[in-house]
Amino acid sequence: MKLEEVLIVGGSGFVGTSLANKLAERGIRVRIPTRRRSRAGHLLLLPNANVVEADVHDDASLDALVAGVDAVVNLVGILHSREGKPYGADFEQAHVRLPQRLVAACRKHGVGRIVHVSALGAGDDAPSGYLRSKAAGEAAIRAGEPDVAWTIVRPSVIFGPGDRFLNLFAGLLKFFPVFPVGGAGSRLQPVFVEDVTELLATALAWPEAVGQTWDAAGPKVYTLGELIEYVGEVSDHRALVAPLPGPVAMLQAAVLEKLPNAPLSRDNLRSLQVDNVADGPPLPFDAAPTPLETIAPLYLSPTRRKAEFFGMAARKREV
Ligand SMILES: NC(=O)c1ccc[n+]([C@@H]2O[C@H](COP(=O)([O-])OP(=O)(O)OC[C@H]3O[C@@H](n4cnc5c(N)ncnc54)[C@H](OP(=O)(O)O)[C@@H]3O)[C@@H](O)[C@H]2O)c1
Repeated sequence: MKLEEVLIVGGSGFVGTSLANKLAERGIRVRIPTRRRSRAGHLLLLPNANVVEADVHDDASLDALVAGVDAVVNLVGILHSREGKPYGADFEQAHVRLPQRLVAACRKHGVGRIVHVSALGAGDDAPSGYLRSKAAGEAAIRAGEPDVAWTIVRPSVIFGPGDRFLNLFAGLLKFFPVFPVGGAGSRLQPVFVEDVTELLATALAWPEAVGQTWDAAGPKVYTLGELIEYVGEVSDHRALVAPLPGPVAMLQAAVLEKLPNAPLSRDNLRSLQVDNVADGPPLPFDAAPTPLETIAPLYLSPTRRKAEFFGMAARKREV
């Protein structure tokens, strides 16, 4: 299949930035919509990237974005929504309606390939609106066949420089040496962002990926409590994790979800009621996933960051 230009919807975010770099390195042009150009400033200098300010929820804008590309990657995902059954209105718009409209736009413009990022644990009967809406989004993508060949990637929680997961805890642990948390026993299998985007890039280039749903996870399973303790150790802010019982954790989440940039919502907590762990091998075709411990210290450890900085300064002086 010809792969000269790819539309990455949600391409200005954490995963999108890594994918855009990867595709640009391979000489593939990327078209990246953003609701605000200032949010995508880090991509403006990327060779082969065309950053477009656009509202992807507007049909005419979406049409213009899809027309002329060889494939679409959908990375739009949100963590918070108004409440609703089976999912709130914001989850419906971002996780269900957008995939439906992307598939329709692909059909209209003869774009025959879509790679979609969902989430591990997505399911119609999952305990959270987030996971139920992700399942409905997957169904919308699969409904595109045979006109639009699909691949779905379902990551566990994703780590890497700039992540919102480990960095969130690193930020909070500076202020809370005793860390009260709900879902401390939930099991997660964090996966490195570069492993996820390697998978997405492979899916785009590899005909055998069509019709596949791939889990993307790391080499090791941790409980949430273990991960928080690990972040504390690496970031020099050791903490005592205090697991909260269910109803108290819900109360805490109900308060936290009211904050601007809410760190946690009740729906997030419900997502933690199911394990976020791959059913089979962590990555398809026996690829070796990157251990958390080889990457996280590079961006969480103050000593490592200082060493990197002074190392760089010394190298510059030598030049
Ligand atoms: N990060 C994880 O740990 C993780 C784990 C499992 C699954 N996933 C899934 O992986 C995908 C990528 O995640 P990410 O961490 O890269 O997310 P991210 O950093 O938050 O980026 C999401 C992107 O989507 C766009 N976006 C957000 N809300 C939108 C909305 N309501 N309408 C239109 N565009 C919107 C944003 O673009 P602008 O702000 O520039 O418009 C942003 O570039 C998502 O589908 C997510 O659910 C992520």
